[in-house]
Amino acid sequence: MNLKDLYINFFISKGHKQIPSAPVVPENDPSVLFNTAGMQPLIPYLMGQPHPYGTRLCDYQKCIRTNDLDVIGDTYHHTFFEMLGNWSLGDYFKKEAITWSYEFLTEVLNIPTDRLAVTVFGGNDLIPFDKEAHDLWASLGISEGHIAQTVEDNFWIAGDVGPCGSDTEMFYFRSNDPIPEVFDPEDNRWVEIWNDVFMQFEKHADGSITELPKKNVDTGMGVERAVSVLEGVNDNYLSSIWKDVIDLICKISGKEYAGNEESMRIIADHMRTAVFISADYSGIKPSNVGQGYILRRLIRRAIRHAKKLGILINGDWEQRIAELIISKYATYYQELIDNKNVVLEVLKNEKEKFNRTLEKGLREFEKVSDKDIDGVTAFHLFDTYGFPIELTIELASERGLNVDVAGFNAKFKEHQELSRTASQGQFKGGLGGNGEVETKYHTATHLLNAALKQVVGPDVHQKGSNITAERMRFDFSCDHKLSDEEKTQAENLVNEWINAGLEVKRIEMPKQDAIASGAECMFIEKYPDIVSVYVIGDGISKELCGGPHVANTSELGHFKIVKEEASSAGVRRIKAVLE
Ligand code: ALA
Repeated sequence: MNLKDLYINFFISKGHKQIPSAPVVPENDPSVLFNTAGMQPLIPYLMGQPHPYGTRLCDYQKCIRTNDLDVIGDTYHHTFFEMLGNWSLGDYFKKEAITWSYEFLTEVLNIPTDRLAVTVFGGNDLIPFDKEAHDLWASLGISEGHIAQTVEDNFWIAGDVGPCGSDTEMFYFRSNDPIPEVFDPEDNRWVEIWNDVFMQFEKHADGSITELPKKNVDTGMGVERAVSVLEGVNDNYLSSIWKDVIDLICKISGKEYAGNEESMRIIADHMRTAVFISADYSGIKPSNVGQGYILRRLIRRAIRHAKKLGILINGDWEQRIAELIISKYATYYQELIDNKNVVLEVLKNEKEKFNRTLEKGLREFEKVSDKDIDGVTAFHLFDTYGFPIELTIELASERGLNVDVAGFNAKFKEHQELSRTASQGQFKGGLGGNGEVETKYHTATHLLNAALKQVVGPDVHQKGSNITAERMRFDFSCDHKLSDEEKTQAENLVNEWINAGLEVKRIEMPKQDAIASGAECMFIEKYPDIVSVYVIGDGISKELCGGPHVANTSELGHFKIVKEEASSAGVRRIKAVLE
């Protein structure tokens, strides 16, 4: 059995429910481009909202971190990775978390205790030394010398504000040297494999820290790192996760891994991430903004390294690599099966597009590379020849030249702002706008959410939505395909409410009261302390929302469900129209 299955089975045996991996592109959460940690989709629940699956959860979560593409090419950084996690939402705390971590490491993964070491929070002005964690590890048999205390590295928060807390990190001694009696977290023979965060605080924008309503546990184990540790390799790309992808790249290029590691790792890493982004149900395509721009850069950088390896770019190399990656992950992620053709198509189109300008761009680069590259030139290479900045940096560094990245970024920002303004003008009252039609769909979304709760059950919660002037799309948690009867019932309920001419009221109240009143909300942390709650009729629907909404449901017309389909594991999607 592989690590993911072992982990999930273990935590299920400890009373946890497995929750599906959230999509890599978070819907309705504009604060991040991609999910960067297992806990990210769970923030509302760590902040106190009840989770439909209960108080003990576990999963493997797709994560993407692309803030530093330059580091890719070493043995252990990846732009996409999977994170295993188990959570207590106000349920168990330090004792169980630490005991189960130890049990999983030593009894399921069979890691000898003396190869393990831990860090615990050493204490500062605000929070004292975590003696409880220390004593728990000691009682399980971790020697005193293998329990280190740190302060900065033992406090965890995603970003600047939100749920946070002290943590305890577990390390594995990956070396044939004798195991040192005293553990030094800075000694890189010790590899961090797991982190248990005791999330009991919330950090605010002014830097202050308050207690959360409940004490939670949030843990994270990176699959790539843990698998390479367990398989005894020092280079993640030699573990079973990557080995066959690297072998295929060797076969396609006719080159050995040794001596070509960097390019092969970049191709393997970037192709895997590009596969997961383009398979996401959000339908991201390569572009020059947001997630699409990340996707474009990943594909183009992979192409450039394929070229470096002498791979014939016009061949089907990218299709073969993508197909292998899809086949490796298909049993875990349905979107790879559903969107396989989309992925292959995205890669092929982007390759052809880039290939058309690449040669010309390289010739242009030759012309301008008699000196360091200034920001305007770097931007010209991007704008006219589609050279992502890292490509220019790589080409320049091969010639010992510098690139004015700050100058490029300034030009890039200017360009993005111009195109944003243009698109706002273009779509006023249309896509993404808040015209009259969209406003109706906003209200219809609330009605559909309420209707599904009545027809399917109280565990239905909104997972995302998208509105255009033509239709609404609504994603919700549900473990089965809706029957025709369920669809008809939901549709009829919405139409009944429309025909009843119910008033839509906006009420302002403190966020905590809104939650206590049972109002629906997707991302509680995104809301200010005083929130708007839209109430329809005498409480048929109650949702935290920024609006806008119609004043009376009679304005909506006739509601019709046009499609019901899977969105991701445990999430269904409805497309509906107002006629
Ligand atoms: N959220 C914690 C981490 O990502 C577990 O390390």
